[in-house]
Amino acid sequence: MPHQPKLAAGNWKMNGLSADLAEVSRLIGNHPAPGCEILLCPPATLLSRMSERVAGTPIVTGGQDCHAADSGAHTGDISARMLADAGAGYVILGHSERRTDHGETDDMVRAKARAALEAGLKVIICLGETLAEREAGNTLDVIGGQLAGSVPGDLSGETLVIAYEPVWAIGTGKVPTTAQIGEVHDFIRARLEERFGAEAGRSVRILYGGSVKPDNAAGIFAVANVDGALVGGASLKAADFSPIIAALEASA
Ligand code: 13P
Repeated sequence: MPHQPKLAAGNWKMNGLSADLAEVSRLIGNHPAPGCEILLCPPATLLSRMSERVAGTPIVTGGQDCHAADSGAHTGDISARMLADAGAGYVILGHSERRTDHGETDDMVRAKARAALEAGLKVIICLGETLAEREAGNTLDVIGGQLAGSVPGDLSGETLVIAYEPVWAIGTGKVPTTAQIGEVHDFIRARLEERFGAEAGRSVRILYGGSVKPDNAAGIFAVANVDGALVGGASLKAADFSPIIAALEASA
């Protein structure tokens, strides 16, 4: 199994209008030959135009969700094939905001992941505990359950990325200690190796997400089994995202 590059992924969430595509041009200018993979996941309205803008550069694009069906009567939804058609190479699935706002279950996330793999997309599956779950000492049980339930069996290291995003760290400025991040990432790695075998399990990239900023990125990237980041707010501006990318490159 080929070694996977580290991944700096930006999740724009429900942010971004046409004018913000200028940030993508800045990012391209800042990273003509990046030492890691750079992914931007804009809102669906910008996906085609962003994909056109990054064509021929090392930057790739992705969606933030997809439907489990290929097509049909699902008003407002987008299929994995549509994302691929709009230029996406990846899709984020099971983000805690989708699990909370849209009641997405592990079963739904697994079905979406199958559809995405079928459409040729790489899949980033998000896992994370709430503060109440952490304080009750249930973090690893929650993560283990989400991992077992959300990840389909038919994938390789290349097509699967896991993002550990503690719900209490998202958009809050609160970041787990490096020991807490390391504990969860080591646990995810062990579970992946158990399930898929040592080689395939080792080649799955495990990203950390939740209040990653230019000033804390290097510390997070120094933790074992952290293969990159899924960045929300700090991915919206090249001035913030570029130093995070540089920290990841420096950690490689
Ligand atoms: P923030 O970086 O804004 O905390 O968001 C993290 C996230 O949810 C990325 O998917």
